[in-house]
Amino acid sequence: MIHGGVALHGEVEISGAKNAAVAIIPAALLVDGVCRIENIPQISDTDMLLTILAELGAKVSFINPSTIEIDCTNVRYQDAPYDLMRKIRASYYLIGSMLGRFGAAKTTMPGGCNFGVRPIDMHIKGMTAMGAEVNVKNGFVYAEAAGGRLRGARVYLDKVSVGATMNIMMAATLAQGRTIIENAAREPHIVDLANFLNSMGADVRGAGTDTIKINGVDRLHGGSYTIIPDQIEAGTYMLAAAATGGEVLVKNVIPKHLECISAKLRETGTIIQEYEDSVLVKGASTLRRVNVKTLPYPGFPTDMQPQMGTLLCLAEGTSVITEGIYDNRFKYVNELRKMGAEIQVDGRIAIIEGGKRLTGALVQACDLRAGAAMIIAGMCAAGVTVVEDIHYIERGYENFVGKLKSLGADISIVNFPDEPEELEKILAIS
Ligand code: UD1
Repeated sequence: MIHGGVALHGEVEISGAKNAAVAIIPAALLVDGVCRIENIPQISDTDMLLTILAELGAKVSFINPSTIEIDCTNVRYQDAPYDLMRKIRASYYLIGSMLGRFGAAKTTMPGGCNFGVRPIDMHIKGMTAMGAEVNVKNGFVYAEAAGGRLRGARVYLDKVSVGATMNIMMAATLAQGRTIIENAAREPHIVDLANFLNSMGADVRGAGTDTIKINGVDRLHGGSYTIIPDQIEAGTYMLAAAATGGEVLVKNVIPKHLECISAKLRETGTIIQEYEDSVLVKGASTLRRVNVKTLPYPGFPTDMQPQMGTLLCLAEGTSVITEGIYDNRFKYVNELRKMGAEIQVDGRIAIIEGGKRLTGALVQACDLRAGAAMIIAGMCAAGVTVVEDIHYIERGYENFVGKLKSLGADISIVNFPDEPEELEKILAIS
């Protein structure tokens, strides 16, 4: 529940990157030894993956809340736990890591946020090129490497895919010979996974460019690794500061990773000052309209699109957002409309008539980033906003409510009122 109208002020510390952590945890399965991983974000997606690894027989110990040790030395092949796998998107990385380690994998098709069809055909194309037979049947994925070990291969990705790039990279690490991934994704978490694997003895080169070369090795050894800061978490606080007209120092970030977000924010009139490992965001008194198209990195991230859509409801004039990655990532628009936003959606394009005052309402977190967008909307709206289904937000933002509170937001987690009259009373407060 949010009482809107408070500008955010202060400093916020960014956690480790979710999309790096959800790949690095399954990649620990490739390691014959103890991996110490620091800066793990405390979110439900990482909890889920650690539980999956533990069910597979890994020893998982918390050294402190954000540092873990994973020992997969004695893990033996078994089917991945189906009930947990289907709840989370990143479970697809178990296909690559199990195939790499055991030469076989049986998993379910991944779950996760629903923004349209999210196939894994390119992951499968890569594994198949490396000599695996992969079948998808009744929602299960069956994969088996011919002769028990994958072979290096050249894989061209028809579409730039973060998941396929990382999954093929993992599978190739212990394959026999050299794998080349062409048209690879270049997101910061791709480089992070490559750095993690290399620090455990892998030979991965070119991560961060569109061609990645992996020379397979026989064994990975234990080691220590620190995950990069979360680009999207940082971007979300930057937009929250800009949208509320506040001033926030976003700490523990890599400013280079945020350039695609900073550039667009500057166009809105927001002031951004970059320091070595932090950025200061000063909201403008009037936000200007901008057009945004989401693209693979270094373009504007699709995972920042709903938050940007919310900010642009407040900007003067008409803004256009083009979603370049997913078919169906504008579901949150219906929720914003309940708060008074004027947005037309046509396929992958949203036209936002800005300069509207948002008003509090009961809205839903349709998915992880849409949920963050609703919270930003609530903080900017007049009156009270209640955001339902915050379990989506807990999948990817560490202590979101606590961090926003420390920046002055009037926000708290409440139980959903039992009676409609009670809810009406809450929403009527202004
Ligand atoms: C990852 C991120 C997600 C982010 C997305 C794009 C994780 C766990 N999730 O998702 O937060 O929004 O990158 O930055 O890291 N595609 C295919 N076939 C495939 C794979 C993908 O057609 O085999 C399509 C997808 O439907 C989508 C596009 O390619 O249209 C990009 O998807 P991809 O980069 O693979 O996203 P995810 O790995 O699912």
